Amino acid sequence: MELFERVVDLRSRLDNIATNGKTVGFVPTMGALHAGHVSLVKRCGEENDFCVVSIFVNPTQFNDPKDLRNYPRNLEKDLALLKNTSCQLIFAPAEAEIYPEPDNRVFPIGSLEEVMEGKHRPGHFQGVAKVVSKLFDIVKPNRAYFGEKDYQQIAVIRRMLEITGQPVEIISCPILREQDGLALSSRNMLLTPEHRHQAPLIAKTLLAARNKATEMSVKDLTQWVVDQINANPLLKVEYFEVANAKTLVPINDWQKGEPAVGCIAVQAGNVRLIDNVKFDSK
Ligand code: PAJ
Repeated sequence: MELFERVVDLRSRLDNIATNGKTVGFVPTMGALHAGHVSLVKRCGEENDFCVVSIFVNPTQFNDPKDLRNYPRNLEKDLALLKNTSCQLIFAPAEAEIYPEPDNRVFPIGSLEEVMEGKHRPGHFQGVAKVVSKLFDIVKPNRAYFGEKDYQQIAVIRRMLEITGQPVEIISCPILREQDGLALSSRNMLLTPEHRHQAPLIAKTLLAARNKATEMSVKDLTQWVVDQINANPLLKVEYFEVANAKTLVPINDWQKGEPAVGCIAVQAGNVRLIDNVKFDSK
């Protein structure tokens, strides 16, 4: 495993790989790695000759400065975790490597910015699009791996690629969960023991909603999910919205032949958790 902090050094290593006709897979992360990240790395290693993982807490995607300050960082631990995986190259740059000057680009990602995560975290997806397009320019991967835990993020990145024309294949990977159902997240370690104890109610409710979807309208199901979770005094739903799984346009009625996705954000004390569930087409 090789660690790179400078773009030039990583690039000269990757140029060597590319001239030998090898494929490069890429897993962008913000560190504080867990088994969810590792599942992407494993898949990346299986499908490519080389697997690159980036670790960079991207300031431009944090709409809340407190959230950026509190975001967990532990490079030593991340490196130890990656040691037992198929990751060969790690890119852990300082901020000035990625943003030598401010990136003032505005990506026309349209309605994706106006719903769910886009609506509740203004500017967040612009920051994600900026950093991922920059990382793609640096790594020039054949394939890049993203988790469905951040469902809307994948749609944003596909849209970003339509805009930039970067030739990267996006591979979306399933959500990895704790045994009690809680979706793995770097933020879980910030939960108090009490909030950690109650947090599995989110996934449990989404799973139950999946089973209820055949017998309930979108509106009633949405209300039911919100009520179930808000009944717990330690959890507060920020939004739960059902949307077309491809376009992410929120829907008021189930659409025949079109799968849907229910996306949720919940405040658990000082920690904001997100999750989602897919509903099969009717
Ligand atoms: P981060 O939150 O570190 O996540 C990195 C990747 O791991 C994302 O694609 C995310 O969806 C995936 N992931 C996180 N938890 C997962 C889980 N429980 N199961 C499966 N995959 C999971 O997402 C980001 O970083 C950033 O926005 C980034 C894309 C790196 C841009 O800065």
